[in-house]
Formats: sequence, C-alpha cells, structure tokens
Amino acid sequence: MNVVGDNIVLRAVERADLPLLHGWANDPEIQYNLGRWHFPLSEADLEGWFEGFRYDGTDQRFMIDTSDHGAIGMTNLVDINWKDRNAFTGLLIGTPALRRKGYGKDAVTTMMRYAFEELGLERLDTTIIAHNKASLDLYLEKCGWIEEGRKGRVFFRRNEFHDNVILGVTRDRYREFVEASEAIR
Ligand SMILES: CC(C)(COP(=O)(O)OP(=O)(O)OC[C@H]1O[C@@H](n2cnc3c(N)ncnc32)[C@H](O)[C@@H]1OP(=O)(O)O)[C@@H](O)C(=O)NCCC(=O)NCCS
Repeated sequence: MNVVGDNIVLRAVERADLPLLHGWANDPEIQYNLGRWHFPLSEADLEGWFEGFRYDGTDQRFMIDTSDHGAIGMTNLVDINWKDRNAFTGLLIGTPALRRKGYGKDAVTTMMRYAFEELGLERLDTTIIAHNKASLDLYLEKCGWIEEGRKGRVFFRRNEFHDNVILGVTRDRYREFVEASEAIR
C-alpha cells in the first residue's frame, strides 16, 4: 500500500529508480550530511542490493514521489521492532533544487502518521550528524521530535570529528504535534 502525504507519495523502490539512487549514493555533499558512510558505489553493487532486498516485515525503503517532479528522494523505516513497537527512520531529498519546498516536512509527517496511525508503533528514532542544521531544524522545530542525547566524536568527515545527535518521537508527542498543527491551520 502506498502512503499518501499532502504533496508526496511514499512508494516502493523500483528498478527504474536505480540510476537516481546511484547518483545520490555517490554525491559527496549528500554523504557529508548523512551519518552512514560507504565507498564509491558501483551500479553492479546497487543492483545487487536491489536484487537482495526483500521486504520481510522489519525493513522497508520508500521512494518519495511527486506528481510534478517524479521521484525526488528516499526515506525508510528499518529495524521495526514489533514487540516493543519502535523503528528507525531516515530521509533524503536528493535533488538540491527541490529542497526547502516543504517535501522533507511532508515526508517526515507522512511517515509519522503511517508509523503511529497505521502500524501502531509507540516511538520512532533517528540520528543526525551534528552539523546538519537543515535536518535538525526540520525534525526538532517543524515535526515535533525531541533531542534525547548526543554521542561525541562519532563521524570523521573532512578532517574533523562530528557528534551524532539522537532524536526520537513518541506516540504521545506525535498526538501533541498533530493537535498543535491543527490549531494553527
Ligand atoms: C534535510 C532535508 C531532508 C530537508 O528537506 P527539505 O525538503 O529541504 O525541507 P523542507 O522544505 O520540508 O523544510 C522544512 C523545515 O526544515 C528546516 N530546513 C530545511 N532546510 C533547511 C536549511 N537549509 N537550513 C535551515 N533549516 C532548514 C526549516 O525549519 C524548514 O522550514 P521553513 O522552510 O519553514 O524554514 C534535505 O535538505 C536533504 O535531504 N538534505 C540532504 C540529505 C540529508 O541531510 N538528509 C537528512 C539526514 S538526517
């Protein structure tokens, strides 16, 4: 089932998306702002990832699709723990020209609604490299998430160590966010 937001749709990754993913995975600017890290990724390796990935109920990847621009980014819901009802999520708007147009907020709030109102989860987690102000502002100021901690000197980028900020949002906090958002509409 696709997950429908205001101006985006979260849908499965298709083979036709691989060229886009290949570009994003090898973009130094994008990777500087992401916590994880990898070597240059070949088309063959990406194809292998695509072939090997099968939805098993604990990990799901979504393309962020728009009617105006097609696929513009990716988000995920991984390490879904059905017993304790939590999961980890991440986000990427891959096309620089389409940033700061509200798609990131749309994707995060759509994912929250899906996680809390469809899957019945109790909390969501994410982590953000400390210099990624855009992402911190998006989650903390615009989507109701809370900074829950910070691990020092986790990532080495451009000859410096960077902290990793730990964020979370609970079901209760999500409800407060929805009520506050409706109040200002
Ligand atoms: C971070 C990212 C997901 C934001 O997505 P986006 O679509 O540009 O964000 P939105 O347009 O929905 O912005 C929502 C809010 O986020 C914050 N924000 C977004 N970009 C920002 C920037 N460059 N600087 C400061 N705040 C920013 C603002 O609070 C903004 O609200 P405003 O426009 O009313 O001020 C996107 O820039 C991105 O994918 N960057 C590259 C990869 C990345 O950093 N991923 C996140 C890893 S944790």
